Amino acid sequence: MKIRVLGSAAGGGFPQWNCNAPLSRAVREKKPGFRVRTQSSIAASADGRSWAVFNASPDIREQIAASPDLQPRADGPLRHTPIEAVVLTNADVDHIAGLLSLREREPFILYATARVLKTLGENSIFQVLNPEVVERRELPLEGVTELEGPRGPLGLSVETFAVSGKVALFLENTDDDNFGTAPGDTIGIALRTSASQGTDGTLFYIPGCAAVDDALRERIDGGACLMFDGTVFHDTEMADTGVGSKTGARMGHMAIGGEHGTLAALRNVDLGRRIFVHINNTNPILDPASDAAKTVEAAGWEIGYDGMELTL
Ligand code: MLT
Ligand code: MN
Repeated sequence: MKIRVLGSAAGGGFPQWNCNAPLSRAVREKKPGFRVRTQSSIAASADGRSWAVFNASPDIREQIAASPDLQPRADGPLRHTPIEAVVLTNADVDHIAGLLSLREREPFILYATARVLKTLGENSIFQVLNPEVVERRELPLEGVTELEGPRGPLGLSVETFAVSGKVALFLENTDDDNFGTAPGDTIGIALRTSASQGTDGTLFYIPGCAAVDDALRERIDGGACLMFDGTVFHDTEMADTGVGSKTGARMGHMAIGGEHGTLAALRNVDLGRRIFVHINNTNPILDPASDAAKTVEAAGWEIGYDGMELTL
């Protein structure tokens, strides 16, 4: 199975259009070691020809432009795409807005939970993906789905499972303690080829997660690779940087560092590789010379980047 990180940043990208904080300035000024990052998405293929995209970021047009495998094949028909399926893990803007760039009556199959499909159904702009052309299929909150494209099975199997998270920002109900969050708002995915068994050769893709519990640790144990929510290193880094007041927890993202952070929570889990994705523009790991980046790397984690490729 081939995997490509299309976008390694969280919502906003890196640099974010309106951010003038030191990290965004450094990447804009091309400071050595800093990488431009587009918004959160990966692509996977069992045969190198048909691809599934996981989350459709607002940057998908430039992500396709940077990925020859995702472009129309030279021997293809006049309108053509190797992208045969799109799978969504939540309804955040950074994961759904790219659907609007996939219009032009090109068939593919769109997979999401009932909650996320409901959001798409209630926002009429998504009718640009006419359901007669782009079939919408529901993913279970717990279960295995063999991915198909308009031309048949992709040879990829996704096991979906609910993870702790938050309803999309634009759907928040502020009267409610959990902002109206319900199961199915955020899922994680175990991705493997249809032929493989067990966790061997499995990529766990969890770009948004508010907490890790024993059930999640047990589920991912033995995985070939984990791509995990790397939004913030410090829960309070938005306030510390002076760019906002929200904590990571308030945004539905656990922090990487600290006693209850991701490094600690997953320390004893057996994984072939562990990679942070969905990295916010305030996260100090974006500076490779930072103590945070060194801490992450010393703990065996990699910092995902756009164009990163893996074969599992
Ligand atoms: C998030 O991951 O918290 C969201 O993408 C935030 C947003 O919608 O900008
Ligand atoms: Mn996001």
